[in-house]
Amino acid sequence: RSGGREQWSGQTAFILAAVGSAVGLGNIWRFPGEAYTHGGGAFMIPYLVALLSAGIPILFLDYALGHRFRGGAPLAFRRVRRWAEGLGWFQVGLCFLIALYYTAVIAWAVSYFIFSFDLRWGDDPTGFFTGEYLNLGDPGFSLTFVPSVLIPLVAVWVVTILILMAGVAKGVERANFVFMPLLVVAFSILVVRALFLDGATDGLNALFTPDFSALADPGVWIAAYGQIFFSLSIAFGIMITYSSFRQRRSNMTGPGLVVAFANSSFEIFAGIGVFATLGFLAVKEGVGIGDLEGITGVGLSFMTFPAIISEMPGGQLFGALFFGSLVFAGLTSLLSILQVVSSAFQDKFGLTPRQGALRIGLVAAVLSVLGFSTTTGLIALDTVDKFTNNIGIVVSAVAMTVIVVWVARLGPELRYHLNAVSTFQLRGWWTVCIGLLAPWSSATCSSPRSPRSSRRDTAATRPGTS
Ligand code: PHE
Ligand code: NA
Repeated sequence: RSGGREQWSGQTAFILAAVGSAVGLGNIWRFPGEAYTHGGGAFMIPYLVALLSAGIPILFLDYALGHRFRGGAPLAFRRVRRWAEGLGWFQVGLCFLIALYYTAVIAWAVSYFIFSFDLRWGDDPTGFFTGEYLNLGDPGFSLTFVPSVLIPLVAVWVVTILILMAGVAKGVERANFVFMPLLVVAFSILVVRALFLDGATDGLNALFTPDFSALADPGVWIAAYGQIFFSLSIAFGIMITYSSFRQRRSNMTGPGLVVAFANSSFEIFAGIGVFATLGFLAVKEGVGIGDLEGITGVGLSFMTFPAIISEMPGGQLFGALFFGSLVFAGLTSLLSILQVVSSAFQDKFGLTPRQGALRIGLVAAVLSVLGFSTTTGLIALDTVDKFTNNIGIVVSAVAMTVIVVWVARLGPELRYHLNAVSTFQLRGWWTVCIGLLAPWSSATCSSPRSPRSSRRDTAATRPGTS
């Protein structure tokens, strides 16, 4: 293999691309609502515990696998154990599914960026979104194309495929150098503006007032682990892929800490921006924050925020900043998701980056356009999103830690590898976290019922142990 693997141009490029992947829609539309509904300020405690006990340790595990075994997810796992290649392809499958709907959301945000300038959604943003924009009017299954969605969706695919075709250093890395500063600038202006809205402090009080009784609720801990896994994009094969493009002798743990810290900072920053803005709406409507609907996800972004933007002095600019931020944050995450798929096929079939990106990109684009620019799109999005986030990621994280730590017993070797190249040294706690806490906590975060039923299963298969 004298051709060699593609490489980032250096450490800054790697960090920027990894932060670009981590900071995505989840930071802006998922974290604020999760924190608010799970104890407000008190949520920071389980959040930090999840970050330190599972988030950062699994992030390092992803880095170690990609960097040591120098392959995309399937190849890296194949080098751990031949039969483990399937886990890599499972992660590739998850990424492929996520890419289909992630692109759709980015396309909507592109439309809404343009709509911001004339407040196109009028007096009834909810009706506009589901009716005029997505055309969900006719009930039942229908494959009527919706041009207003089709055009931006195709545009997003074209841009994404072109960037990926240019390769890791000339494409993905450069795109991050452009989009990430734009994101930070646009979002910072937005947050500062939001802080000067009437009712901003009410919003912040609602978000940060701690409800310590929430800590006794297992559901709050589950939400914290779920948020950390999704937000850091760990156990999706993404960080394995990105770190496989890192030069052989290069610091891995230091950048890992930077990425985790940057992602969480952005999340809290977004919480401030979103809740200051929601505070404004609550004051306008004369209700409490708790009475507002649509404080996360699609509802927050395409129904609640447009309503607020229409009410606000200078709303057009605010809207452009908000939807622009969604586009920039989303695109850099989308690139990482598709790079996983493209790299896997390059590794397997000896394709060039151009070939890999073009082939998988075209297949994904066709499926995404068929699935999401028609009237059934929204329903599909919800289902795909639930499957990948609630089930897929947990299966993937548990399988990964079990195979690497318990079956192949690579914990010490990988720790040695990271320490040999890195500044920040990992000690025994890391092996403990990935060996014990990580599979346990990710199994817990799938659903409140799973730990109990699996314990029962274990007891049933070993009758002699009571
Ligand atoms: N981490 C991203 C976010 O917070 C989401 C994501 C998940 C990105 C999986 C890539 C893969 O929005
Ligand atoms: Na994130």
